[in-house]
Amino acid sequence: MAEIAVFGYGTVGSGVVEVIDRNAELMKSRGVDMHVKYVLDIRDFSGDPISSRIVNDVDVILNDPEISVVCETMGGATFAYEYSRKALEKGISVCTSNKELVEAKGAELMKTAREHGCSYMFEASVGGGIPLIRTINDALTAERIDRIYGILNGTTNYILTKMDECGAGFDEVLKEAQELGYAEKDPTADVEGHDACRKIAILASLVSGKCAEWKDIDTEGITNIDTEDFRFAKELGCSIKLIAMCDFNDGCRAIVSPRMITADSPLNSVKGVFNGVLIHSDMLDDSMYYGRGAGKLATASAVVADAFECVRFDGKEVGRGWSEEKLVFADADDMKGRFFVRVDNANADAAAAALGASDKIKHENETGMVSAEMNGKEFKKKLSGLSGVVKFIRF
Ligand code: NDP
Ligand code: HSE
Repeated sequence: MAEIAVFGYGTVGSGVVEVIDRNAELMKSRGVDMHVKYVLDIRDFSGDPISSRIVNDVDVILNDPEISVVCETMGGATFAYEYSRKALEKGISVCTSNKELVEAKGAELMKTAREHGCSYMFEASVGGGIPLIRTINDALTAERIDRIYGILNGTTNYILTKMDECGAGFDEVLKEAQELGYAEKDPTADVEGHDACRKIAILASLVSGKCAEWKDIDTEGITNIDTEDFRFAKELGCSIKLIAMCDFNDGCRAIVSPRMITADSPLNSVKGVFNGVLIHSDMLDDSMYYGRGAGKLATASAVVADAFECVRFDGKEVGRGWSEEKLVFADADDMKGRFFVRVDNANADAAAAALGASDKIKHENETGMVSAEMNGKEFKKKLSGLSGVVKFIRF
């Protein structure tokens, strides 16, 4: 039997224990017998059935030769980094949902794992329960991926869906997402787009084989999206989604921003906590991956599937990672696209002429319009010459 330890008994960690406890027999029938021996947490959970397995000292786990896999679900890049590194140095594989750590130290931790005959796995770090990492590593291994485009944050998609469909207020829905266990400890990471940015950086690293840094990616969150945007979007037959994208044609370009998504896009119907990712590759053409992007059991399932693989391939490196060489991004503003623009009514005609916008939607004080196709630099140059612009959203 493989003895497992879980670092952090929060939303995902408690899910990991539940998945292993509930589906242990099923996994045994599939060739892996695993059991959670310890759970590391700051609290002792006295009175809770988990308390007999709780330890507060990481060394109890690291010094127990029976432990073969650790599921790291603590979050953050300080203690989680130190404990993961120490575990790997002892030949204990680490499976994590912690995208902050994977983005910041993934290359180093995978190298450490390789040097010590174990694995550093991170399926749950992108897309919650959607098997994206394994798909890119395995199923798409004969493909040249040239574009990844999608919704990679459950909290913001939940917020945007509720604002759109129920007219709910931002703060109220964010609170709901936190209560449901979807949001980050500091939800700024969700609403400002940093979480989606880390996830697209991880995917960019995986595809390019080099280390992408999230700080190099243009990122805009959803805090400026308001009810008037949804009103215009509806009239255009669109929804508004936080989209993370990475394009590998002619260098690598990545951007995270809210976008108007037309009704004919499969991403238009990705709602609530669900994530949806479109991958374009040279042989398969388009493929789409859809599922719960956050939440206790969906995420935990992905962590446990990684632990299963580590036990099954004990001592062999599982998965493919990236080197420590930095990925240098090209300018995302070189990419072509269209832009939805809100302009005050007095300046609408001049703006439409400058932006090549054919259709205009007039509201009480403002007019909404969609520009002709142009690259980001050209658009921003034209925009700087206009008066009365309220805002723009990428199309
Ligand atoms: P939680 O805050 O719910 O859980 C983290 C747990 O780890 C808490 O119980 C926390 O204790 C404990 N912990 C933190 N630091 C330490 C430490 N130094 N020693 C021991 N225990 C510690 O977070 P989540 O479960 O939501 O998320 C965990 C990770 O998974 C994060 O990296 C997150 O980004 C990622 N993730 C989360 C998803 C979700 O849906 N929630 C989905 C996908 C990924 P305390 O509460 O006392 O601080
Ligand atoms: N806060 C993240 C989200 C958790 O909402 O997508 C899953 O990574």
